[in-house]
Amino acid sequence: MCGIVGVTAADSSVFQGKTIGRVLRELLKMLEYRGYDSVGIAVISDGNIVVRKGKGKIDEVSDKLKFDEITGLTGIGHTRWATHGVPNDTNAHPHKDCEGSIALVHNGIIKNFSEIKKKLAGKGHVFKSDTDTEVIAHLLEDKLSDHNRKTFLTALKEVLEELEGSYALAILYSRDGERIYFAKKLSPLIIGVGNRVNLVASDIPALLEYTSTIIPLKDGEYGWISPDKIVIKYGDELVDYKARIKTVDWSIENVSKAGYPHFMLKEIYEQPLALRETFYGLQSDPNLEYIVERLVESDKVYITGAGTSFHAGLVFKYFLSKIGGRASLPFISSEYMQVTEEVGENDVLIAISQSGETIDTLTAVRSFKITGGKVIAVSNVLESAIPRESDFAIYMRAGPEIGVAATKTYLTQVITLSYIAIQYGYKSGRLTSSEYRDLIEKLSYAPQLTESSIRYSEPFAKMYSKDLKYKKSMYILGRGLGSILALEAALKVKEIDYIHAEAYPAGESKHGPIALVEKGFPVFFLYTLNHRAELVGNMKEMHSRDGEIYVSTPDQEAIRDSIRDARVIPVPIYDNEILEPYAHIPAYQLLSYYIAVEKGYDPDKPRNLAKTVTVE
Ligand code: G6P
Repeated sequence: MCGIVGVTAADSSVFQGKTIGRVLRELLKMLEYRGYDSVGIAVISDGNIVVRKGKGKIDEVSDKLKFDEITGLTGIGHTRWATHGVPNDTNAHPHKDCEGSIALVHNGIIKNFSEIKKKLAGKGHVFKSDTDTEVIAHLLEDKLSDHNRKTFLTALKEVLEELEGSYALAILYSRDGERIYFAKKLSPLIIGVGNRVNLVASDIPALLEYTSTIIPLKDGEYGWISPDKIVIKYGDELVDYKARIKTVDWSIENVSKAGYPHFMLKEIYEQPLALRETFYGLQSDPNLEYIVERLVESDKVYITGAGTSFHAGLVFKYFLSKIGGRASLPFISSEYMQVTEEVGENDVLIAISQSGETIDTLTAVRSFKITGGKVIAVSNVLESAIPRESDFAIYMRAGPEIGVAATKTYLTQVITLSYIAIQYGYKSGRLTSSEYRDLIEKLSYAPQLTESSIRYSEPFAKMYSKDLKYKKSMYILGRGLGSILALEAALKVKEIDYIHAEAYPAGESKHGPIALVEKGFPVFFLYTLNHRAELVGNMKEMHSRDGEIYVSTPDQEAIRDSIRDARVIPVPIYDNEILEPYAHIPAYQLLSYYIAVEKGYDPDKPRNLAKTVTVE
């Protein structure tokens, strides 16, 4: 995980009265979701490198260490999610070489760092931290000392040849002045091309204050930026990147809180808009027809993703079967080894990843491709690794999501995949053209329904959160599609409320889980369109064991008639299963949000989690 940034400006007017310390702090805030256990910056100041770093969140550390007082024009910064070495002041990045003329920040893992460290220690290098990153600074120093006339870029190339693992690096070398060296392998890194300022960052939000013109780097590329020059190399070759320059349409407003107390709440509220954009984007996507054809012609369809993305994949499996009459094989990305033996050339994998960078999903994609199978990526981030390495890509248009827990990206994944399932149904001849048009029209109500769901359920989510904050455990039950949506509802509660929430098919709950139910144990039900009588039966079973019954429902009467003291969470009425996710899911997102707020937790930055997981 971790987020890195680097900025180099022609003169201080680019920073509009801010010091570079302040600028780096603000850029890092945009990446805080990538890790937040320690933070640090390094700046070239009067020909020397000044480093400030420490354990804690960005604002805490930068206030304590007075980042805002540091002046200069070129600097790098890091926000950390610890892998090698506990989070403390010494292990925080940037790391320096012995002499102090090199400082670098790193996102990724160097697998062979202990061998390198041993070798360098033998040559007299002194290491201060337990990190894998620090060896890179010393290895650079070592290469530079081999013989005097070597350029830093040559030394960097030699270092990269020795490193095994993953990295996005931003490096300062005080002897080369206002320049930032960079390198990328497996971890994301993007160059921002500005006016008298250039930047590098792990993700687009950190660039937007200064530019929306970007160059996403490819694995194996390295080079340097200065305020007016960009050099990218691959091996010994200079890369001609002109044709790769892109403009993103994300704005700085999308990545700031815009008056909301948390990004998560803002992103829940943004869902109707994000769904509208995604739905209309799909209708004009030139790749879609070809993708659906591939699916229809394929032998087997596999589906993969991690976390929330996997849950969206299960919704796809459901609709592909219900609407398209097509069986598919979902697997969790990190479990790709369970399926690789059986994949053939005419099989297709749908790889779902919001960030497009999750290493588990990327690894699954790579191993699938080795078999000759075709990969279709569904992502929210343009030109990220997974779409880039796939044969085809479909993008959601959710805009940047900063809260660690996925909200708007889940529902936009779901609408994208539901749309593909409907297209599949039509292309495969299972749906008539009028059935097809009818379903697409139904799906077009998704944004509106989401808006109503937020409006109806929010006061109840707020109210119930006051009791639920004391609970240690809960069940979330459903049948059919409801049991799949329950998985996502339970994940939100686990992620940001630190409450054990278990999703289960309601019918199966009597085969074990019911044993835990006693007075006051909360049991949630998604009262979905199908199997309503059976759902009420399951509610009664739980109620008669003194369980506390909560029901998200478009029909409050039906629930109160059956169980008088059930706590209802009203959701809007809908008449087709394709709309079920938009009616129910916002209620659970809000519930988990308000429980976190009640408990005094920060819903945007849940403990131990990171938004983009680039470690296996
Ligand atoms: C992390 C995040 C989850 C996310 C998962 C997959 O675990 O905390 O919220 O669902 O990664 O991320 P992706 O970017 O591949 O969808």
